[in-house]
Parts: sequence; C-alpha cells; structure tokens
Amino acid sequence: MTDATSFPSMRTLNPSEHSPQDNYKLLVGAVVPRPIAFVSTVDAKGVRNLAPFSFFTVASANPPVVCFCPMVRPSGARNLPPTKDTLRNIIDTREFVLNIVSEEFGDKMNATSADLPPDVDEFEVSGLTPVPSELITPPRVGESAVQMECRLEQVVHVSTEPLGGSLVLGQVLRFHIRESILNNFRIDPDQLHAIGRMAGATYCRTRERFEMERPK
Ligand SMILES: Cc1cc2nc3c(=O)[nH]c(=O)nc-3n(C[C@H](O)[C@H](O)[C@H](O)COP(=O)(O)O)c2cc1C
Repeated sequence: MTDATSFPSMRTLNPSEHSPQDNYKLLVGAVVPRPIAFVSTVDAKGVRNLAPFSFFTVASANPPVVCFCPMVRPSGARNLPPTKDTLRNIIDTREFVLNIVSEEFGDKMNATSADLPPDVDEFEVSGLTPVPSELITPPRVGESAVQMECRLEQVVHVSTEPLGGSLVLGQVLRFHIRESILNNFRIDPDQLHAIGRMAGATYCRTRERFEMERPK
C-alpha cells in the first residue's frame, strides 16, 4: 500500500466559503464525462420544447428509470423565469422523451440550449425533426438513434436557490432504438457515436475505449 503522506499536495475547499459559480466550476470539471439527456417536452398549450441536460444518469433498470437535473436559472438571466421550461412542462404534463445525442447532430443540440423564451419551439430553432411518440404527447428527435418515452415518477427539489437544481425521475415506457445499431439488446457504440460533456464548451467522443473485466 502507498504511504498516505506520499501523495501530491491537495487543496481543501469548503463550498460554503465560495460562490455557487465557483462550486459549479468544480463540479462540472470533476464529474466528467457527463452523458447528455436531450429532453423533449410540450407545455400545457402544446408548444414543443427541446433542451440538453448533462446532469443525467440511470436510476433503476427494474423498472427502467432515468434521471436528470434542470437547475435554477440565475436571477434575471435574460428576463427568463428561474424555472427552466423543461421542468415546468414536465411538472404540468408528467411526460418527456429522453433522446441520446450523437456527434452527427451535436451542433443542433447545442443550438437548443440558448436562453429562449418559453413560447419558442426549439425543434424549429434547431432544424431537428419531431417524430410522433407512441404513448405520450412530446415528440421524439428523429435524428437521435436512441429515444426513450418517459412518464414522470417523481421530482425532488434539491434547492430553489440560483444554480440549485431539481432531480427529475422518469420511468421509461418505450425504448426506440435504430435497428442498425441494435444486436441482441446491445447497442453498438461505434454507430451510436454518443458525445459527453466536459466543463464549459468542451465535449468528448466515445470512440476511444478499453476493456477491464470485473473480478470474479
Ligand atoms: C451539453 C449541455 C448540457 C447542459 N446541461 C444542463 C443541466 O444538466 N442542467 C441545466 O439546468 N442546464 C443544462 N444546460 C443548459 C440548458 O440546456 C439551457 O439552460 C436550456 O436553455 C434550458 O432550456 P429550457 O428552458 O427550454 O428547459 C446544458 C446545456 C448544454 C449545451
């Protein structure tokens, strides 16, 4: 075992002594790479909405449940409400589609992340193609090779402060997976070309991988 005193020197930070912005930078720099949930919703009037969220993972496979976290907009950001459209729509309708983002349409995904007023349809802004879902009202993103129709299970409001966040848990009612990338329930990463988010404007590809068997 390594001697505990022989590691490189560490800086210890108390988050309560630093700004939410600086703590955010530490979190998004450390928790990498993050997959991207590209979430489609509709509002109570039927206006479509599309936005990416990289605070995203799987919560359960039985039943299949995914989760992601819309944050609270900093106060006064472009005169938009603190609650993001995606969260408001999901609370109102209890439905969303979670689409996986591939390199091929990363730029269009990025276009939907602009701070846009609630009545703007990000399918139109981005040029991405809405495809009707089977069970729910929000459309799927046709360009995405993996789409999941989800019903809201639970929202956990972790913090309502600026840069706070809510955990949205949704049960997957339908998986839609492009035939050509699917083989006996395995999804071919060389065809999916999923991208991940690092800090700031940096992304990563999923092309360089290595194998490591778990201990028996
Ligand atoms: C790749 C990427 C990942 C993002 N991840 C998050 C996230 O996890 N949580 C969040 O609140 N905003 C995140 N954003 C910013 C939102 O997409 C952005 O605020 C968007 O305008 C929200 O849209 P809405 O108000 O239509 O829901 C991300 C942006 C990008 C480009």
